[in-house]
Order: sequence, then structure tokens, then C-alpha cells
Amino acid sequence: MSAMPPPLLKMENVTVDFDGFKALTNVSIGLAPCALRILIGPNGAGKSTLCDTIIGRVRPTSGKIWFKEDLITSLPEQEIVRRGICRKFQTPGVLPALTVMENLLVSARKNRAWWHALTTRVPPAEMRRAEEILEIVGLTDRRDVPAASLAHGEKQWLEIGMVVATDADLLLLDEPTAGMGPQDTQRTAELIHSLIDRHAVLVIDHDMSFVEALNGYTTVLHQGQILKEGSVADIRADAQVEAVYLGRAKE
Ligand SMILES: Nc1ncnc2c1ncn2[C@@H]1O[C@H](COP(=O)(O)OP(=O)(O)OP(=O)(O)O)[C@@H](O)[C@H]1O
Ligand SMILES: [Mg+2]
Repeated sequence: MSAMPPPLLKMENVTVDFDGFKALTNVSIGLAPCALRILIGPNGAGKSTLCDTIIGRVRPTSGKIWFKEDLITSLPEQEIVRRGICRKFQTPGVLPALTVMENLLVSARKNRAWWHALTTRVPPAEMRRAEEILEIVGLTDRRDVPAASLAHGEKQWLEIGMVVATDADLLLLDEPTAGMGPQDTQRTAELIHSLIDRHAVLVIDHDMSFVEALNGYTTVLHQGQILKEGSVADIRADAQVEAVYLGRAKE
């Protein structure tokens, strides 16, 4: 029997206590390289806190987190990022005055100050990869326009592109479809699917049509605890999930 490959990320019994309020209680999650994981749950369930904890912005009160077999629980955020985890926040964070391409290059050249990233010559391989990412996120024809002039959905895609450009092994996407219409939401699901040949992706979202289009292994958080894990169909069929989350989401 062959041994299971080591997970890329492993969280074990992670608890986060904010002055007596438990935002996470004994959460354990494993994620293989190039795997897709969906995280859903009501407002305040602890989804963003879970991302914050992985990337070192919030410290677990107890529990451990491993990345590529190294314990990262008490490393500084910058060091965790350097080791290959990148996070997209709930709100878009593009640099509005720079063009779409410039935003990608700044993000790819994360070790350098942004003015330096733009004033030094970009090596051809880096430029090719940036053009590839433009294609992946569907913004090739918007390459040279300032990010400020992009539509809302396009801004979100550029931000996903910026996360991809860091070449991190694990991408954390917190509500990538926030404020999008149904068409852009579907397009975002396709875009995320095209990323998992190179990256593991943890996606947080509320929109069940998006979760269904993503159709990956799903974890349901409720009051800081894992309520259910399984395929989207399993989640859909679960009476408890229906009661605490899906029923409410329909209202
Ligand atoms: N720094 C903090 N100090 C105290 N409480 C916090 C802190 N950060 C988050 N919380 C609380 O922890 C709980 C979980 O918050 P979190 O932002 O992780 O939820 P969420 O699942 O991402 O919700 P949403 O769907 O609204 O984004 C909430 O009750 C929130 O108020
Ligand atoms: Mg959140």
C-alpha cells in the first residue's frame, strides 16, 4: 500500500478565543496540493478568522497549523506569505492608478518596492507569465487601462490574478464573488477551476449558485465549529445545514 502524500496544509484542533469569545473551536482541516476546498457558513461563523489564522494575522489560542510539513503556528505573517500562502481579502485591493498589467507585475514582484517593480526592466519570462495570467483571468483586452476604470467583476478578477501572480502554493479567496451578478459569478467559478492545476485554493463564499458551480469538497462552519463536510450534494441534503444555513440563506 502506498503512503498518502503529505497534505499541503494541516490545521489541527485550532481554537481562537477573542477575550472569551470563541471564534473557532477545535477546527481541523487538511488540504492536499492543488486541491479545491470550499468554506461556507452564516455571517460570523468564523470563516474569515480561519483564513486570518492560516496566514498568521490571528494567533490560535490552542492547536497547530502545518504548511508543507513545517509548523507555522507562530511564524510572522510575512514569513508565512514567503513560504507560499497568499490571501485575497473580502474587498478589492487593486492599485487604481496603475494599469491592469502594472498591477499584475507589482504583485508578481512582491519582493521589490512597487516603484522599483515598475521602473526596472521586467525579465521576459516574468512578462510571459503575466500575459498568461491576464489570459486566465480574462483581462487580456483590458491590459493597458487603469484599474480604476474596470467594472466591479473585472476588478475582482484582477485581484485573483494578482494572487495567482505571487505564485503561492495555497490561495485563500475570501468572498471572490461579492457584489457580482449571476454571469460574472459563473465566470469566476470557471476561473477558479482553471487555477487548481497549479495551486491549492480555499474559497469562502455565501452564494450557493457559485458553490454549486465550483462543486468541490465543502466545509460548513457554524459558530466557529465544523458542522458538516462533504460534496456540495451531501451538504445540500443535510438537514442540520438546511436548518442553520441554507434555510436562512434563502430568506
Ligand atoms: N479581532 C476580533 N476581536 C473580537 N472578535 C472578533 C475579531 N474578529 C472577528 N471577531 C468575531 O468573530 C466572529 C467570526 O467572525 P468572522 O469575520 O471570522 O466571520 P465570517 O464567517 O467571516 O463572517 P462573514 O460571513 O460575515 O464574513 C464574529 O462574531 C466576529 O465578530
Ligand atoms: Mg468573512
